[in-house]
Amino acid sequence: MVIVGAQWGDEGKGKITDLLSHSADLVVRYQGGVNAGHTVVVGERTFKLHLIPSGILYPKTRCVIATGTVIDPEVLIQELDCLEKLGVAAHNLFISQTAHVTMPYHRLIDLAEEDRRGKYRLGTTGRGIGPTYADKASRTGIRVLDLMDPVGLTEKLNWIIPYKNVLLEKIYGLAPLDPSPVIDRYLAYAERLRSHVCDAGVLLEEAICNRENILFEGAQGTLLDLDHGTYPYVTSSNPVAGGACVGAGVGPTMIDRVIGVAKAYTTRVGEGPFPTELTDAIGQHLGTKGAEFGTTTGRARRCGWFDAVIGRYAVRTNGLDCLAVTKLDVLDELAEIKVCVAYRLGDQVLKSFPSDSRILAQCEPIYETLPGWQSCTCDCQQLSDLPAAALAYLQFLARQMATPIAIVSLGAERGQTIIVEDPIHGPKRALLTDAFDHPLCP
Ligand code: IMP
Repeated sequence: MVIVGAQWGDEGKGKITDLLSHSADLVVRYQGGVNAGHTVVVGERTFKLHLIPSGILYPKTRCVIATGTVIDPEVLIQELDCLEKLGVAAHNLFISQTAHVTMPYHRLIDLAEEDRRGKYRLGTTGRGIGPTYADKASRTGIRVLDLMDPVGLTEKLNWIIPYKNVLLEKIYGLAPLDPSPVIDRYLAYAERLRSHVCDAGVLLEEAICNRENILFEGAQGTLLDLDHGTYPYVTSSNPVAGGACVGAGVGPTMIDRVIGVAKAYTTRVGEGPFPTELTDAIGQHLGTKGAEFGTTTGRARRCGWFDAVIGRYAVRTNGLDCLAVTKLDVLDELAEIKVCVAYRLGDQVLKSFPSDSRILAQCEPIYETLPGWQSCTCDCQQLSDLPAAALAYLQFLARQMATPIAIVSLGAERGQTIIVEDPIHGPKRALLTDAFDHPLCP
């Protein structure tokens, strides 16, 4: 099963992955790097994870950081140390030897490039993600298996760092890096990580042969996808469900279902068009009540109404079987709630998401307004506990996307969740146009 973000990331995938990890044998992160951030709350303890899948909190679940990811060893080691301090053993963590490694020059170039872009900046997380993937594509990357080979790593970095220094000095006006201390530092990281490194393809093949339950966890979201997102305001990897096959090295026939995670409203971090953005008091309310600050950068997230055009695009691009709708409780106080059902572009009405960001920037949302429920939903345990207007809101979203809602999340705690139907074994979506016999998709 693949879990993907159905918006611009930060949909609450960490909590949903954590819930579903309970019945998973393996959780596999297939793309992205330390630009991602998951917050998982278990009782009194809060875990902030960037690279390690939240499945690590279950002692029997094996977690894999697969080939399609980019790994910043310094941050990964900090996460391991932090988990250890909180009493979580990480012997079940496996790192693909063919994943790429984020190096100090990647971070420097990411920040310098953003600076140089001025008003054309992308609003990256500054974690070196784009430059690491760029080196992967131009075949000058360092992989985990290079890190594990002291002689090879020394030789490689002794030609790559002087080459990067030309860029740092001549293009960006920065100080050059001295290869020696970088090599020493990364060799020390290698020793700390060595016991976790493996051929992840073999591990996954064995798990598939043993009919184990594998959860592929996407980072970021559909609209941040390098190919299918709001380019150029995207990340440099493929968060969409298809990315799981490439990033983990499993064939598409091995994926049995896909669940999309969407907030009950929309947020976005960084630059780029956002048709339903609210810059008024309601937007501020969503930001404050929803604690909409990035786990990785602490930046305030831009907030807006739910956009069903985006929702339908996510259903199509990922082939979603069902949805998990998170943070419904954030809407509790509102007197009325809007949902964008189409865009107005001049005298045209668009029901499909435009693949050109320049067009998206000109789109005006067409809203339907629904009544709010103005009561607390955070303790609701089943659909029948929800106020009628909250149920109607969920039904409206499901109908707009022609996709059933399997999970509703009403707070950060594991217990603040309504499981409408089992997302792992429940019915699968057949065709986009099929009608569903489902409590949230009448
Ligand atoms: P990068 O991935 O750091 O290169 O950033 C590219 C774009 O993706 C920026 O707009 C970031 O704010 C956004 N982004 C990257 N990771 C996340 C995430 O985990 N959640 C939300 N936005 C993200």
